[in-house]
Amino acid sequence: MKERRFRKLIPWAIGIAVLGFIAVGAFFSSNLLRGKTGGPVQVVNAPADIVARGKYLAEAADCAACHTAPGGAPFAGGLAMQSGFGTIYATNITPDPDNGIGRWTADDFWRALHDGVRRDGQQLYPAMPYTSYRGMTRADADAIYAYLMQLRPAKIPNRTTDLRFPFNIRLGMRGWNLLFLTDTLPAVSVGHTPAWERGRYVVDVLGHCGECHTPRGLLGQMELSQPMTGSTLGRFEAPDITPDGLAGRGWTQAALREFLGSGLVEDGSAFSDMHLVVMRSTRHLTANDLSKAATYLMGDRPPPPAALPDAPPPAEATTTAAGRVTYVALCSGCHGLNGEGIPNTVVPMQGNTTLRLVNPRNLVVSMLDGIAAQSFSYLQRMQAMPPLADKLNDAQAAQLANYLRVSFGGQKPDVTPDIVRGLR
Ligand code: HEC
Ligand code: HEC
Ligand code: HEC
Repeated sequence: MKERRFRKLIPWAIGIAVLGFIAVGAFFSSNLLRGKTGGPVQVVNAPADIVARGKYLAEAADCAACHTAPGGAPFAGGLAMQSGFGTIYATNITPDPDNGIGRWTADDFWRALHDGVRRDGQQLYPAMPYTSYRGMTRADADAIYAYLMQLRPAKIPNRTTDLRFPFNIRLGMRGWNLLFLTDTLPAVSVGHTPAWERGRYVVDVLGHCGECHTPRGLLGQMELSQPMTGSTLGRFEAPDITPDGLAGRGWTQAALREFLGSGLVEDGSAFSDMHLVVMRSTRHLTANDLSKAATYLMGDRPPPPAALPDAPPPAEATTTAAGRVTYVALCSGCHGLNGEGIPNTVVPMQGNTTLRLVNPRNLVVSMLDGIAAQSFSYLQRMQAMPPLADKLNDAQAAQLANYLRVSFGGQKPDVTPDIVRGLR
């Protein structure tokens, strides 16, 4: 009897011990370390070529993506990032001494990128992709620092993160780092040449492509056992971009260079988050770096042949006949009666990259939500695609998706009305 009562107390004892630990940790981290925020304003006078290099690297690493609010001053922070644990705000990284990094030394800056530690010693949340940037060379981090420190300081205060307990205690991230912060990310492809190595650096470290394209585990960590196998972000899927996944869907190194360099390929366009990645980051890469990134993504080995059938089998053609009717009524005016598209105005459906994806999510969501008019490197403005959620019921949308997947994507007609309903 007595023993059982004692056992009942064990969880309480553990709970109290953990809370005590957290409280002591929170006290130390918030009071003792917060004192380390003063210090002299740093004056950095780097040579022009280093500053230019820093600008190039900051673009390749897409620092502005998160550190600039929509319509706000560049690098002045403020972008709200929703996570499963609450809202995190990217900070002001202009050289403003009070709100930005004006008092940060190059060492402080290096610690943020390499260890995920702020200047006051507090842990950063991995919404800042230091898991990827950890692989950056010190010289490259210093060049980015030199570039940022000569920007115009923006007097814009940071917003405090709004995370739920216990995620609001930054100290907890020490444990997260112990578990998940590794020195090198697993390579997505096989290769050894210097071009492949540079491509790996451009993709995995600077481009931090895995932060979106690698699935995430329960604690928000990248599942490093399945690098680049695809992940869902909000409405859209960032698809599998492993060499097998890409080659199986007909991607070549040349097409990848084109896509990352301009956002457009013959048979598709970048949209959603990927459009922003291309426009703000990858289109600024040199032809040399683009080529090496493509080498790394496909690997040094010749990729397996694409598994795309030329024409749909007849039996499937009948199951998708109803979809064809809807296609002609709603889509063919823009995408063409035979899915041929309109050059420089509307992407074709024939062989379209989105129709070739195993997961129908991006196709269905594009149909329901539409795609706002976007510009591309070599194109002022593509036409907009209207949201068609109101014009399609679940069954019609599923039939239409199946027609397109079978006819133009070499995929199975496996979209059900339930799948569509789930994505509304
Ligand atoms: C995917 C979004 C994202 C990208 C890309 C990103 N950051 Fe961050 N960064 C954040 C967030 C969010 C925070 C705040 C995290 C927190 O509060 O723990 C942050 C914090 C920081 C901090 C700490 C600032 C402070 O005041 O404590 C520095 C320095 C920083 N980032 C620099 C960079 C640089 C340099 C790059 C490009 C090489 C970059 N970031 C790219 C999201 C991002
Ligand atoms: C008013 C013209 C218009 C109509 C109508 C239209 N689309 Fe589009 N669609 C576009 C344009 C333009 C794009 C490329 C948008 C971009 O990336 O900037 C596009 C993109 C897409 C994409 C994403 C593929 C890619 O590579 O960008 C899919 C899938 C798609 N459309 C399917 C459909 C379907 C299915 C219908 C009918 C239900 C439809 N569209 C109706 C103009 C249209
Ligand atoms: C912020 C999240 C994010 C980042 C970072 C990101 N991607 Fe994407 N990516 C997406 C999404 C979402 C899509 C699906 C929309 C589309 O096809 O344009 C996508 C699509 C793609 C596609 C098209 C795949 C297909 O078959 O349609 C390729 C290739 C790609 N990404 C490569 C990359 C590379 C290389 C990087 C790093 C330089 C990268 N992505 C970084 C979100 C991201």
